[in-house]
Amino acid sequence: MSLMDGKVAVIMGVANKRSIAWGITKVLSDAGAKIVLSYQNDRMGDAVKKLIGDLPETPYMDVCDVTKEDEVSAFFAGVQKEFGGVDALVHSLAFAKHEELGGDFENTSWEGYELAQQVSAYSLISVARAAAPLMEGRDGAITCLTYYGADKVVKGYNVMGVAKAALECNTRYLADSLGPKGIRVNAISAGPIKTVSAMGVSGLPGMLSVVEEKAPLRRNVSQEEVGKAALFLLSDLSSGVTGQTLFVDAGISILGF
Ligand SMILES: NC(=O)c1ccc[n+]([C@@H]2O[C@H](COP(=O)([O-])OP(=O)(O)OC[C@H]3O[C@@H](n4cnc5c(N)ncnc54)[C@H](O)[C@@H]3O)[C@@H](O)[C@H]2O)c1
Repeated sequence: MSLMDGKVAVIMGVANKRSIAWGITKVLSDAGAKIVLSYQNDRMGDAVKKLIGDLPETPYMDVCDVTKEDEVSAFFAGVQKEFGGVDALVHSLAFAKHEELGGDFENTSWEGYELAQQVSAYSLISVARAAAPLMEGRDGAITCLTYYGADKVVKGYNVMGVAKAALECNTRYLADSLGPKGIRVNAISAGPIKTVSAMGVSGLPGMLSVVEEKAPLRRNVSQEEVGKAALFLLSDLSSGVTGQTLFVDAGISILGF
């Protein structure tokens, strides 16, 4: 029997085959999960439809722009109607305006700051609120994706570092408030991976080469490795773990200079 046999796993944030969410989707699908995907808009939906042929079963899919509360509610209502409940939820999405991801941090605008917080941090609260009633009695688990720029200054990460700090804090507060309902909430802090979002961060090529040169494992991590960590955090293997941030970064975050 596979770890996720018969479990319903909702994965938010697949945009293309490079997305971390797609790596997680493939690992959870291989582990036996019934896959549910959300996409940001119809254009993204068309791209996702081209990918899903690689999965053994056609997943349930619907639109869900996390800045629209009505779409969040409608998406989870649709999932409830189709499956009756949810066992696992992956929040693998973020956004900041290009002009906020580089330059001097003191030039951060309120609009840019607010948008990054809304999409990248607050949305974890709104999707957890919508999913929680569907998870009751099922040992539900929620996992989101964060980055080391929440803990330390990473040049160019700027407003997204602040949003990731809020996301990690949201993870702990949600773990506390949903714990009595048997729902666990954790974060994965992934090392840099070349995706569309990451390419918007000005220093990404430099980050990838520093990890390759200096990380204990002397290489970068893959979407699949993040997927395997997500399988751990979303399955019974981690039944005693909640409110934590797990680094999947080839060890780069343990280094000082
Ligand atoms: N790639 C990296 O180096 C790296 C490292 C650590 C953490 N992360 C995090 O991993 C997550 C996934 O990013 P990725 O690197 O796979 O990039 P990606 O571009 O493939 O995925 C980002 C996703 O966010 C979605 N999104 C943006 N705004 C949205 C909205 N309003 N509503 C719904 N969805 C929205 C996009 O549609 C896209 O699917 C993000 O939280 C990112 O910050 C990435």
